[in-house]
Amino acid sequence: MIPNQWYPILRTEDIKRDAPTGVRRMGEELVLWRDLRGKLVCQSARCPHKGANLSEGRLVGNSVACPYHGFRFGTDGACRLVPALGSEGRIPASLRVDTYEVREKYDLVWLWWGDKRTQLPEIELPHELAEHPRPYETITFSRPVHYTRYIESLLEFYHVTFVHRDHWANIIDYTFMYGSWKKLWTDGRERYIAANKIVNHRVDVEGTIIRNSFDQCEEGNPSNTWHFNLIYQAPCMTHVRQGLLEVTTWLVPIDEHHTQAIMRLYEYPLLKWMVPVKPLRPLVLRLSLMMEQYVQDQQDNDIMARQEPKVSERGVNKFIAVDEMNAKYLQMRDRLKAEARAEAQAREAGAREAGVREADRAPEPVAGGDGPAAVPAAGGTNGHGPGKGNGGASGNGGGAKRSGKGARAGNLSGSTT
Ligand code: FES
Ligand SMILES: [Fe+2]
Repeated sequence: MIPNQWYPILRTEDIKRDAPTGVRRMGEELVLWRDLRGKLVCQSARCPHKGANLSEGRLVGNSVACPYHGFRFGTDGACRLVPALGSEGRIPASLRVDTYEVREKYDLVWLWWGDKRTQLPEIELPHELAEHPRPYETITFSRPVHYTRYIESLLEFYHVTFVHRDHWANIIDYTFMYGSWKKLWTDGRERYIAANKIVNHRVDVEGTIIRNSFDQCEEGNPSNTWHFNLIYQAPCMTHVRQGLLEVTTWLVPIDEHHTQAIMRLYEYPLLKWMVPVKPLRPLVLRLSLMMEQYVQDQQDNDIMARQEPKVSERGVNKFIAVDEMNAKYLQMRDRLKAEARAEAQAREAGAREAGVREADRAPEPVAGGDGPAAVPAAGGTNGHGPGKGNGGASGNGGGAKRSGKGARAGNLSGSTT
């Protein structure tokens, strides 16, 4: 997973109204809920008391209550009430859950997976998408594959004529999209299957965006040519435009072995003509997306599930010239991960230096264990990673610890992929 990035983890419509919403992303169980003002809160779902999942609890005022013993956690992650200790009971400061930055934009919920920062970057889509707002429908589903293989599969289309050949749903697609007028479109499949050579291939990199345009053509028959435009935006967005079809898919890590796909299909001009009744158009888009989920995407996933190695990285594939976009994606992933590591190291060095200066000024050591003064200086970059749980929970009943407070540092150790 690439740290210091915004990841769309859910559609806004997936957030329950009056109950916590549970989701597993980035290897961690998360709980999302709205405070009394409607602002979205995202926290580690693991209760620091005995590890129950907070998403199975309830919302009570401005807090989420654990389903097991009813401990309540506020919007900042601190425990506000332990019913067994009564309303006046002393609550250990270590009873808290990690709280993460989330925002809502483009009808999606975005999680900041990275360092705690005073100012976070804006969430922006490539201009091709941002500047042409149009109606769309979005579905989401999970797959048992690593996100790198999934992203790779959507950054090339010359597998299409092999993987998506024979299913009746593919044939409908081809008839509709590639058939010729002369033969009443019935030659669509034949034409598309024949067009499997890539020409006019061009890849451009701009910041964290990679663009690829190419023609897929039938060798010796220039009239059978289809133009494609692909976009990748780090960390996990892919977009394809081909003729009528325009689809954005975000491939979000659930954990090291599973990926959540969030797939968005845009309304195309012809749909107005095909479906004159406006309220029916979203239904048509949704049915097309479901066909994609159950047929084409499933066909891709059947192949991906048997790929080895499971995780794609630089050096594991023997790419050909027209795999340039795949190669650039893996390079960009490495570059962004290296940048995040360097930033974390610089911060740790800064924190160590500040700790030394602090020690010089305060010669009297603080007696051990209790209270905020005993916090190690590197607490802000403690490398809480996916699956490592809540550091705050280890201090059962002890003094305040800062580990686990506020937004996470992400796993910058390089152990996750
Ligand atoms: S496990 Fe959550 S309150 Fe006990
Ligand atoms: Fe495919």
